[in-house]
Amino acid sequence: MADVIQNDGQTLTLPNGARFHAVWLRDNALDADTRAPGNGQRLITLADIPDDIAISNAAIAGDILTVTFAPENKTCDFPLAWLDAHRYDQPRPGGLIADGLTTWDASLNADVPTGHLPDLQTSPDALRAWLSAVRKFGFAKVTGVPVSEGSLFQIVDLFGYVRETNYGRLFEVRTEVNPVNLAYTGLGLQAHTDNPYRDPAPTLQILACLENSADGGENMVVDGFRVAERLHRENPGWFNLLAGHSMRFAYAGEAGVALHARRPLVDVSPEGQLIGVRFNARSAAPNVDVPFDKMADWYAAYRRMSQIIDDPAMEVTFKLAPGEAFIVDNTRVLHARKGYSGAGHRWLQGCYADKDGLLSTLVALEAQT
Ligand code: FE2
Repeated sequence: MADVIQNDGQTLTLPNGARFHAVWLRDNALDADTRAPGNGQRLITLADIPDDIAISNAAIAGDILTVTFAPENKTCDFPLAWLDAHRYDQPRPGGLIADGLTTWDASLNADVPTGHLPDLQTSPDALRAWLSAVRKFGFAKVTGVPVSEGSLFQIVDLFGYVRETNYGRLFEVRTEVNPVNLAYTGLGLQAHTDNPYRDPAPTLQILACLENSADGGENMVVDGFRVAERLHRENPGWFNLLAGHSMRFAYAGEAGVALHARRPLVDVSPEGQLIGVRFNARSAAPNVDVPFDKMADWYAAYRRMSQIIDDPAMEVTFKLAPGEAFIVDNTRVLHARKGYSGAGHRWLQGCYADKDGLLSTLVALEAQT
């Protein structure tokens, strides 16, 4: 019909200029034989689409585009609004940081995102706001957590499931004699992401405070995406070196465990968007993936990343009181602990969970409003 501007068989151009390929439209058809009406799952494979798929006819009536495919002679309807929401013929917004994320530095100290556990458990609005802050900033605090062992699971219960590891369903963080892991001593730690020697690394970490009468021992978080942005701005070549080569991480601190991962310090999607960072000096293994003639520059870039992470202008610092906890997106936000003295006690419990479950819960909550 006249409303369709162009149809050359292989591609279609709508009156508003939107362009689609025949094979794309057929693969993404919305009819009940292509997509299960209940759960939206695709019922066909590419083998079900003829090699010579073409558009034999296309017409717009009201808000619907009706396409007939040859040689199947199959007719499918596409709402124009759906087509508009799924255009791929225009440049997507560029930039390192995905839409909806806000990177931060020490200025966020004045406004740390915080939720109160009893509110989060009873108010969908409060939960949505808190989950949204975790998505946006990659970390948030929680208050009102019962001061009892295992109560941090109540935070995970808000959105998903614990990810169990060889450290257990939860792990204790407190001073121990003869520690197997530096996290259990009173030394300060450089900001890091946890468990980079796993693939996938845990995507969320939760730490809840049960006792904190020791001097010092503040927690500190750094936005790894802001670190990466800064490195990219200062020296794109160094950024590309870190993004373009793998790093090695390993942990074998206990019997029967030999974890290894080979991932870049800065993970970037094919579209140039930051996916994640991994940074943990304690777990870094010898890097043999950088060519000899690039190793000196790679180390210069690695050192600069480390310096930016250590810059106090990047850190948000807080001392957890008993009954307080925080969550970090472990693919983005680094965490650390300042040194603390042996006087008094400091006892945290930690666990891991999965970010995809948190985001799923958030999107489902957002769909209800
Ligand atoms: Fe850690």
